[in-house]
Amino acid sequence: MTRVEINAHDSTGDTVDLPPSDQYTDFVREHPSLLAIGNTPLVQLDLPIDIGDARVSAKYEHLNPGGSIKDRPVLRMLVEAILAGDLTPDQTILDATSGNAGIAYAMIGAVLGYKVELVMPENASEERKKRLRAHGAEIVFTDPMLGYDESLHEVKRRYEADPDKYFWCDQYSNQNNPLAHYETTAEEILSQAADLTHFVAGVGTGGTISGVGKRLKEHNPNIKVIGINPPVWPGVEGLKHLGEGHIVPETYHEEHVDRMIDIDVDASYEMSREMSDKGLFAGQSSGSYVWAAYHVAGEARSGHVVTIFNDIGERYFSTGMWDTGR
Ligand SMILES: Cc1ncc(COP(=O)(O)O)c(C=O)c1O
Repeated sequence: MTRVEINAHDSTGDTVDLPPSDQYTDFVREHPSLLAIGNTPLVQLDLPIDIGDARVSAKYEHLNPGGSIKDRPVLRMLVEAILAGDLTPDQTILDATSGNAGIAYAMIGAVLGYKVELVMPENASEERKKRLRAHGAEIVFTDPMLGYDESLHEVKRRYEADPDKYFWCDQYSNQNNPLAHYETTAEEILSQAADLTHFVAGVGTGGTISGVGKRLKEHNPNIKVIGINPPVWPGVEGLKHLGEGHIVPETYHEEHVDRMIDIDVDASYEMSREMSDKGLFAGQSSGSYVWAAYHVAGEARSGHVVTIFNDIGERYFSTGMWDTGR
């Protein structure tokens, strides 16, 4: 059972006391729309690819209310900051984001009544920018040719210029990010796929793979955790390249990852289109995850490979990724 699922009623319907330490659960329950975050389905995929007796399943994180997996860590980081007194009502929530975390900040910030300011590369998709503005967030753009790393530098510059104004959430170092996945995403996967043998995910902040990987390996050290590494250019929206000279986020804990697979961006695109042909509609990085998950399943020929649909396909209309000419 995940923390936000904890029911304040016992089987007779009487209210029972929550543990006094469980302020987080109490706080979330005071804002009912936040209870829609998490508890997503795990769905077996049946793409026409030869993987022997292996199976591949995807956790439908695109069904979160913000349309992506980032609702989970952002909720956790903001609520813990409020409870710790690090985020006060007069402050503005500040962070660098490729877009999905930004939408979660903007949406959850609006629920909780906070101003939100986000730094991102200018080539983030139009749909993301529109959604951010719909929730009233302010956007600061950085040069897309300089990648996410420039957004990370710019957010630091802004914070240092006026530290009292901002709560810099810093999803790239905030350990409540992987914790959210350790306590919710991983727990849900274990209850939905007790037989899983492999977990495949990429690294944006590394929160997903580190938090889920840690919990899965505690449960069964034989479960293989496999990361994916996109090239620097053209990259995959939402994912970082990890290589010499590139920033490694503090939220990425490589000790929970068994190996990395280099991703072929064209093959990932092709995979996203094959998925949409079969009625599966998730974004670009999900195509990379599924490509890698099938690659791993094809090697293993047996077992159960679990991966993630990170965000909704609609978020990429303006990028042209769905323009197949049909
Ligand atoms: C589309 C997309 N895919 C994958 C990821 C990677 O998730 P994580 O930050 O947990 O590594 C992100 C996160 O930013 C994302 O926006």
